[in-house]
Amino acid sequence: MATINRLSGLEILDSRGRPTVQVTCELAGGAVGTASVPSGASTGTAEALELRDGDPQRYRGLGCRRAVRHINGELNAALTGRSFEQQHQLDGAMLELDGTPNKSRLGANAILAVSLAFARACAAERGEPLYQYFAGLLGQSLQTLPRPTINLFSGGKHAGEQAPIQDVLIVPASARTIDEALAMTFAVYQAAAELSYRQYGMRALSADEGGLAPPFPSAEAMLSDAVESIRAAGLEPGREIALAVDVASSHFFQQGCYHLGTEPLDSRGMIEQLLNWLDRYPIVSIEDGLAEEDWAHWPELRRRVAGRALVLGDDLLCTNPARIRRAIAVEAADALLLKVNQIGTLTEAAEACQLARSAGWRVTISARSGETEDNWLADLAVGWAGDQIKVGSITQSERLAKYNRLLAIEAETGLPLVNWP
Ligand code: PGA
Ligand code: ZN
Repeated sequence: MATINRLSGLEILDSRGRPTVQVTCELAGGAVGTASVPSGASTGTAEALELRDGDPQRYRGLGCRRAVRHINGELNAALTGRSFEQQHQLDGAMLELDGTPNKSRLGANAILAVSLAFARACAAERGEPLYQYFAGLLGQSLQTLPRPTINLFSGGKHAGEQAPIQDVLIVPASARTIDEALAMTFAVYQAAAELSYRQYGMRALSADEGGLAPPFPSAEAMLSDAVESIRAAGLEPGREIALAVDVASSHFFQQGCYHLGTEPLDSRGMIEQLLNWLDRYPIVSIEDGLAEEDWAHWPELRRRVAGRALVLGDDLLCTNPARIRRAIAVEAADALLLKVNQIGTLTEAAEACQLARSAGWRVTISARSGETEDNWLADLAVGWAGDQIKVGSITQSERLAKYNRLLAIEAETGLPLVNWP
């Protein structure tokens, strides 16, 4: 039983220098937990509402003072003095208080920050690590560590749209530990930085998630340069390092066509394009290969890609249990990209995770492009036994906070790395 003594919110800045929300939750027993929420740029339209002030004179409308006022005012007043036996009781109380389907009144950023800070305070009160507390939310024991999928090259909304696809990621397939995975990644990242300089005259300036973002002439160039970087690092593409891609295709889908190269592609053409990449590059996972509103063609994509690569839904699913149920029913995907702030409470994200698992899907636990130095995501990926964790590149402290936490959890638990792909 945890009784809330006080909730205090604070507007802080994320890795893009935009405001976001941090909450400190004090329990009556003295335990304290603080947590911050991230923010996306390549957002799905079905995401829960991130409340922004809309004042153009301050942070171009992106201020979070209203969300913070809701934490210090209404949420603090309604929740202080109340005891919650379990996380879902607190989350349920906040949903009831908000009263909207997408958390638009109090703000998903305010609600999630409270949900996470409460989780941390409860873990502290019980004297258990946060990953253990998260595992308990799903009623499971610790199993494996997630395999990192690491952003190497960036395009799309994270890199000023200089290339159409959003991320080409590397998957250290043969690594047996987080430690080994990161060392392999470093070798490939350095080789890719040298390639960017040689090929494009670009120094290692990085995009929002820390990926390299030279002016690629085409989507294919991102993939072939990635393979060349793996080879240049002395590693074998496919066997030692595989590729994953976040196509984020909702963002170049207009009037029923995908604007990926010179010729617009219809949905069938886009599927053929993805299959062509699978034939030519060692890709083990395709995220948002089709647009979020192109439901009619996702089942065909899944059918044709199944067994070769994961069909991973991000914008399509938005960590939303109703959308995941629909995708399971029509067999639109076989993997969930889980971002807690797309839905706005730990309890609903846990439900999304369990639904995906019940259909035999893989789960990737993902950060956002706007992150903070908070590292709860690493604990979540371990506690919920994510197959993958997607944090961005191995540069920038808001990304490294998560990798460094994974290293600490690995050292502490000795858990094995999940067997994927
Ligand atoms: P976002 O991008 O955090 O900007 O939404 C991440 C992703 O698309 O996976
Ligand atoms: Zn995505």
